[in-house]
Amino acid sequence: MNKMNNLEDYAIDYRKSVTEPEKFWAYQAERFVWRKKWDTVLEYDFEDYNVEWYKNGKLNITENCLDRHLLNRSDKTAIHWVPNDPKEQDRIFTYKQLHEEVSRFANVLKNNGVQKGDRVCLYMPMVPELAIAVLACARIGAIHSVVFGGFSADALAGRINDAEAKILLTANFGPRGSKKIGLKNIADEALENCPGIETAIVLQRTDDAVEMKAGRDKWWHEELEKVETFCEPEIMDSEDPLFILYTSGSTGKPKGVVHTTGGYMVYTAYTFRNVFQYQEDDIYWCTADIGWITGHSYIVYGPLLEGATSVMFEGVPTFPDAGRFWRIIDRLGVNTFYTAPTAIRALMAQGLEYVELYKLDSLKVLGTVGEPINREAWDWYHHHIGKNQCPIVDTWWQTETGGIMISPIAGVLPTKPTYATLPLPGIQPVLLDSEGNELKGNGVEGNLCIKFPWPSMIRTTWGDHERCKNTYFSTYKGYYFTGDGCRRDEDGYYRIMGRVDDVINVSGHRLGTAEVENAINMHEAVVESAVVGYPHDIKGQGIYAYVVCDAAKMEVSTMDDLKAEIAATVNEKIGPIARPDKIQIVRGLPKTRSGKIMRRILRKIAAGETSNFGDTSTLLDPSIVEAIKEGVVRDQ
Ligand code: WT7
Repeated sequence: MNKMNNLEDYAIDYRKSVTEPEKFWAYQAERFVWRKKWDTVLEYDFEDYNVEWYKNGKLNITENCLDRHLLNRSDKTAIHWVPNDPKEQDRIFTYKQLHEEVSRFANVLKNNGVQKGDRVCLYMPMVPELAIAVLACARIGAIHSVVFGGFSADALAGRINDAEAKILLTANFGPRGSKKIGLKNIADEALENCPGIETAIVLQRTDDAVEMKAGRDKWWHEELEKVETFCEPEIMDSEDPLFILYTSGSTGKPKGVVHTTGGYMVYTAYTFRNVFQYQEDDIYWCTADIGWITGHSYIVYGPLLEGATSVMFEGVPTFPDAGRFWRIIDRLGVNTFYTAPTAIRALMAQGLEYVELYKLDSLKVLGTVGEPINREAWDWYHHHIGKNQCPIVDTWWQTETGGIMISPIAGVLPTKPTYATLPLPGIQPVLLDSEGNELKGNGVEGNLCIKFPWPSMIRTTWGDHERCKNTYFSTYKGYYFTGDGCRRDEDGYYRIMGRVDDVINVSGHRLGTAEVENAINMHEAVVESAVVGYPHDIKGQGIYAYVVCDAAKMEVSTMDDLKAEIAATVNEKIGPIARPDKIQIVRGLPKTRSGKIMRRILRKIAAGETSNFGDTSTLLDPSIVEAIKEGVVRDQ
């Protein structure tokens, strides 16, 4: 059925999704507009990874997000945008207006030579034009690649070049809290190393002047004046790429996760409707940035596919004060609120006086995403924000999964603090031990894998299918490996324990330790480094960097200067989100005889443990561990 209303519905749908997956997912797809129906629902091969959903089906996702609603919802608010500065005006787009804006900007893209299959990079603040441009790409079959506005010029250039994008969409500045991010200046720096970019279209978000490069840069508003409103949607194949989104892994540079059209559409809509138990007149607010998968699936596509009112917020939770979220909820009458544990913890730390000023009585459903939520934060959210009345959906998923995988269904499945609870219909999770055996029964802990395809799963990593195969389908033959550790408790409920690979999760943002180390190593005084995560009260995990420096370089600068320079290097190479919270200059790193860094020990020291290091017999030089504990910075 389209919507599960009680526990029995869930049990029936779950069973059906396992015994007759094709029938189940065909039914879910039938509510959409297809220009041509699919030939087969699912074809797949997990060995030599390949998966096709709704094969040979033809459609345009924006026709389903926009045109499909024009008959019954044309004057309903599609996007309600709230600016960073509360003194500025909100902007509201009805479905009819959004349809027009998307069509117009689609024509701007066409006018600038963008064709079906071309990659468009977006480096934008959280303004309606970002959502409009994303949909405009989809309208004409161009592949969008949104890069979060907090990434540096180097990081942006790397992503532009990997995707071979030919056009960049950006803005002069992006207001965030009391700061303004100089997006255009950063983009200019990036584009010096991006020969493939022919055009940059620049939105004038603030009154601040920026330099425009003749022949390359064009103003957004001027381009809009040149085009008509009507734009026929490009008819796409179900398996044509819809977007690329870069994410960090345990090794090397970030990979471009590719999602395709038909399956992504069906799954994001299905999960949005069910997990949040969305009802026609609900006001729904997800606080993520469209630069991440949460924003793609649950600010733009999922809600619009369902004809919902999606709130889009440009600012930060603590500006102008820590009551900002709650004030917006009261003012707009938000019914469903979806945010990250890190935001909850940050606001919790500011005290209840910011919460108590607001009623929060419009709320029906609360959600969290991005990292494990600790018990204190869960209780605070439930009690002080939800007034013990709102189910909390702790939604586990990943950039690669496209949509929510394991989660309570609001009010339908019971919740359990800190548990993502149960898999959604269509999702078949298994826990494997290190030998790859499936752990049967309950009360077990292992590596979380998924053993059957679902419609919005990753199709490939852009330009490198082998990498996709190796990363997700080779650790355990025949399974998609998530990289997460997980416990299934006595009741069969799932609790995500965090990453088991060299990925750290800082404020819900994924960072590869290797990526941060590579950035640190770019500093001229650095010989080598090792980065680990450690428990952080607000961020969930903080970044702890152990750095070995060249002795000669250390003589000419103070320790504090050196650390500040190293942190600045990371800022420059990746962006502020990767900036280490702690840097310790060390005499050496604990390595095994074969040269492998024993990260386990470094993790323990970073967490403040000074003993119980386990088996250290393979260490080449055990005295290094003592030196790190004592804070020795160089050979004596
Ligand atoms: C990783 C994926 C999915 C959108 C945001 C992050 C962690 C995600 C939860 C949760 C515990 C979670 C996992 C996962 N994670 N949601 N509810 N409970 N951990 O997407 O950047 O692709 O990161 O975030 O470790 O593997 P992402």
